[in-house]
Amino acid sequence: MTRQILVTAALPYANGHIHIGHLVEYIQTDIWVRYQKLQGNNCRFFCADDTHGTAIMIRARREGRSEEAVIADMREAHVRDFSGFQVEFDNYGSTNSPENRELCDTIWAAIRRAGLVKEKDVEQLYDPVAGTFLADRFVRGTCPRCGAEDQPGDNCSVCGATYTPADLKNPKSTLSGAVPEVRAAEHLFIELEQLHDFLSEWTQDGTHLQPEIAKYLKGHFLGEPLRDWDVSRPAPYFGFEIPDKKGHYWYVWFDAPIGYMASTLEWCRKNGDDVQNWWGADSKAEIHHFIGKDITYFHTLFWPGMLKTANCNLPTKVHIHGFLTVGGEKMSKSKGTFVMGSTYLKHLPPAALRYYYASKLGPGLDDIDLNLDEFVTRFNTDLVGKVVNIASRCAGFLAGQTLSDVYPDDGGLFAAGAERGEAIAAFYEDCNYNAATREIMALADKANKFVDDRQPWVIRKDPSRADELRDVCSITLNLFRQIVTYLAPILPGLAKQTEELLNRPISNWAEAQKPLTGTPVSPFTHLMKRIDTKQVEAMIEESKEAMAAEAGAAPAAPAPAEPTFHPADTWKDSGDAMKNEPLAAECTIDDFVKVDLRVARVIEAKHVESANKLLQLTLSLGGGETRNVFAGIKSAYKPEDLVGRLVVMVANLKPRQMKFGLSSGMVCASGSGGPEVFLLSPDTGAVPGQRVH
Ligand code: 2FM
Ligand code: ZN
Repeated sequence: MTRQILVTAALPYANGHIHIGHLVEYIQTDIWVRYQKLQGNNCRFFCADDTHGTAIMIRARREGRSEEAVIADMREAHVRDFSGFQVEFDNYGSTNSPENRELCDTIWAAIRRAGLVKEKDVEQLYDPVAGTFLADRFVRGTCPRCGAEDQPGDNCSVCGATYTPADLKNPKSTLSGAVPEVRAAEHLFIELEQLHDFLSEWTQDGTHLQPEIAKYLKGHFLGEPLRDWDVSRPAPYFGFEIPDKKGHYWYVWFDAPIGYMASTLEWCRKNGDDVQNWWGADSKAEIHHFIGKDITYFHTLFWPGMLKTANCNLPTKVHIHGFLTVGGEKMSKSKGTFVMGSTYLKHLPPAALRYYYASKLGPGLDDIDLNLDEFVTRFNTDLVGKVVNIASRCAGFLAGQTLSDVYPDDGGLFAAGAERGEAIAAFYEDCNYNAATREIMALADKANKFVDDRQPWVIRKDPSRADELRDVCSITLNLFRQIVTYLAPILPGLAKQTEELLNRPISNWAEAQKPLTGTPVSPFTHLMKRIDTKQVEAMIEESKEAMAAEAGAAPAAPAPAEPTFHPADTWKDSGDAMKNEPLAAECTIDDFVKVDLRVARVIEAKHVESANKLLQLTLSLGGGETRNVFAGIKSAYKPEDLVGRLVVMVANLKPRQMKFGLSSGMVCASGSGGPEVFLLSPDTGAVPGQRVH
């Protein structure tokens, strides 16, 4: 029976790039999804960027851009990296989407109705200069236990003590350097304890979680009353404002998992499906979440609790994996083992990492180690030396011909391989890819032995044995294709090349059950090239350099909106600007008010063909009202850096017909022109449409 399966991988944060540690999960999940699709199941893979929270807000301020501009750039990079590793989503959304907003509202209303929300005052450190409450990691100071200086807000890296930021001596905000104050703010909490019975039952019924996870939850959380979950943050916070608590925002971990549903909703809207078919309480769909062990708590307690309260379909299974180590150690920036996905792809093929991770991943939570020597050997030995070798030893002999019309006697080899199909399938289903690859390599060994025994290169020399050659090559190519079908979830690229070689799609697991006969064989082209340790070394070297550059890079200029303190001895205001452009003739207030200056948001920015200096901007005044403006700022700004930011515009300027179109307004900027152009921005809090007085 066809299963309906919804699969998710954890939504990556939009404040960082995808690295090889993240890729364990995305590759693991992608393999599982591809396997389910090959089995003919109606399986969909949904993911999205996790965009909200303080970290994004701070990054945007540091970079002097809007949060929207930051997350738009990162989304592009994430999508590119995933596609480079052949991780294929059915939909890739964003938690900052209207769909997510809509679903957050609905789920929140259900949680309120169920009487689970209560308000409490929370004391938190507040940075009076940056104007924001501080998460633990944005506070540093002296360890209250051992006196070590410059320690993080929650634990000491010298003596290992754990504490709260308020316990630190001489605390400093890492945002502004200011001494934080303790301030109380109201927060909204969800009383998880009211769901205790449900969560005990759901986590312990033996079907949804790996046994060690069920045991961990029982031992650490479920043996005592569940603590209230703090789900709100006071402004300023980049997120969704809580509709019935103005000035307060849902904590990122409230709206992030709802992002799974929002990505589904986006896909449903594009594909004429109903989201209730997947997430409704009566849905027949299985829901499978793949996550790392660090976010167990959110996915096995909060999330099922939220879904239950909102009367939704519950996860069928949460598949939890361990962390990645490299050479037995944590990924290290200084050692160059903290490798970004994009850096890896400059030096090595995606298939090597996909295969290596698959060969290491089992159904449990063990960490997996990337041993770089083994990584090279495994790819070269297993894939180039064993699998691809099967085809390369005979495909050329049949190029331009067809496979034998009747499948020849192979001594039961193909049938034995077909018979292993069920066991291999069960390994994929259980996420035991390590066992699957071992089974498949055993088949590759047998196929190679067949070629060794029959020696097609010898047969080929004798024209009277042409039929025998065709039979031997037909058997070999069928054994090869059977193996490639079994490997297709891990190596979609190789499956595609094999489809082209043998002119038949590998779109179904059953392709491994029946040999091909009489079909044409295309000219043989190299399927995979050996990799060399030098490529790995170059990747490590580049990672080291990139990380060193990042660490030494001067911090980007703070956003003009940020109230940053500049000591007087750094003021270098020469007066040249006034000399170069003396003041204009006096005007009256009446003259001034004729000019209607407004705050506007850049919602689109693009180059203008054949215009050297102009960018075309679409400026929003809010409420759907927009203006098209051509601005001479091309030498100073890149279009992609402008999208999302606030500017000040002359909104009532008489529209001017230009060669490129109608310009309806002007953006305000200072500077002498060329790269010396500085757009004006309002302080934080301003919104599009506000008049500037
Ligand atoms: O830990 C993380 O990287 C989070 N961004 C994962 C979110 S998963 C889901 F709940 F959205
Ligand atoms: Zn200490």
